[in-house]
Amino acid sequence: DWNSGNVIAEQVAKIQAQVGTGKVICGLSGGVDSAVAAAIVHKAVGDQLVCVFVDHGLLRQDERRQVEEDYVKATGVRLVTIDAVEQFETALAGVTDPETKRKIIGREFIRTFEKAQADLIAESREQDGDPIRFLVQGTLYPDVVESGGGTGTANIKSHHNVGGLPEDLTFELVEPLRALFKDEVRAIGRELGLPEVIVGRQPFPGPGLGIRIVGEVTRERLDLLRKADAIVRAELTEAGLDQDIWQCPVVLLADVRSVGVQGDGRTYGHPIVLRPVSSEDAMTADWTRLPYDVLAKISNRITNEVEGVNRVVLDVTSKPPGTIEWE
Ligand code: XMP
Repeated sequence: DWNSGNVIAEQVAKIQAQVGTGKVICGLSGGVDSAVAAAIVHKAVGDQLVCVFVDHGLLRQDERRQVEEDYVKATGVRLVTIDAVEQFETALAGVTDPETKRKIIGREFIRTFEKAQADLIAESREQDGDPIRFLVQGTLYPDVVESGGGTGTANIKSHHNVGGLPEDLTFELVEPLRALFKDEVRAIGRELGLPEVIVGRQPFPGPGLGIRIVGEVTRERLDLLRKADAIVRAELTEAGLDQDIWQCPVVLLADVRSVGVQGDGRTYGHPIVLRPVSSEDAMTADWTRLPYDVLAKISNRITNEVEGVNRVVLDVTSKPPGTIEWE
C-alpha cells in the first residue's frame, strides 16, 4: 500500500539510475510541486543539482525568504536567485489588459530562466566540460493525463534571443512526481522535512499578484496588495480556516476609488476584494461562507494598517459564472 517513504526510496533509485553523474537543473516557483520535485532529486544526486528561483516582484510577502532561507536550510539545495524585479516592472508599465499582462509575464519569465540556464551551463562546462543535460519538472499525474501521455525531453529553442544557449538544446526531463496526486506530493514533502509554509501552500497563479491588480501594475500597488494579502492569510490561518478554503485571492481594484472617512477627514481610496473559494479542482468553485467575526477582523486590520485602502468587499459569486481570479 501507499507509503511516502517507499515512494521516496523508489524515486531516489530511479533518479540515480537515470542521471548517473550528470548535472541537473530545476526551476523553483515557490509552489509545492517544484519544491518537492527538487528535494527528491537533491536527495538522489546532491550537488549535481542546481535550482533557479526567479523573483519577478509579483510574489507574496515573505515568499522569497521562505525559499531562500527556510527551503534551502531544510534541503541543502544549491540555489541561484535571479532578481528580476525591475525588469518585470519595466515590462509591465502601462499595461492594464489581463491577457497582455499574462503574455508579458510569461515571456519575461522564460527569458530570465533561459538566461540563467545558459549562464549555469556555460559555467558548468568551463568547470569540467560537462554541460547540464537534465531538467527537473514537477509534473503531476493529473497533468500527464491532461496532456495525453508521455514526453521525456524538452526542446528549448533559443528563439528568445537571450544569447548563449545552443541553437536547439535538448534536455532530458526528470519527473519524479509523474505518478502522484497533489495530496501525495504534500505527504512526500512533509516526509522530506520541507517547511509547512511551502508544503501546505494554496494554489497561486504563475503571474502572481500581477493578475490581482485590476489596472496597471506598479511597485506601490504591489506593496499595498502584499500587505493586505498577508493580513488575510494570517487571519485565515489564525482562525483555523485553511482546510475549508481552496484559495483566497485578494484583489486590488486600483482603477476604482471611493469616498471614505477616517479621523477628521475624508479619504479617497481603493477597495480590496476578498475572494475566498471552496473547490475540489478549481474547475468549479463556491464562495466560502467565512464567519462574520473573521471577516470583521480582516476588514478592520486592512483599513487600519494598509494606507490607501478604505473599503473591503466580499465576492459572493460561485464559479461559474465567476472565475476564481478577477483577471
Ligand atoms: P480561474 O480564475 O480561471 O482560475 O477560475 C482557476 C485556477 O487557475 C489559477 N490561474 C492561473 N494559474 N496562470 C496560472 O498558473 C494563470 O494565468 C492563471 N489564471 C488563473 C487560479 O489561481 C485558480 O487556481
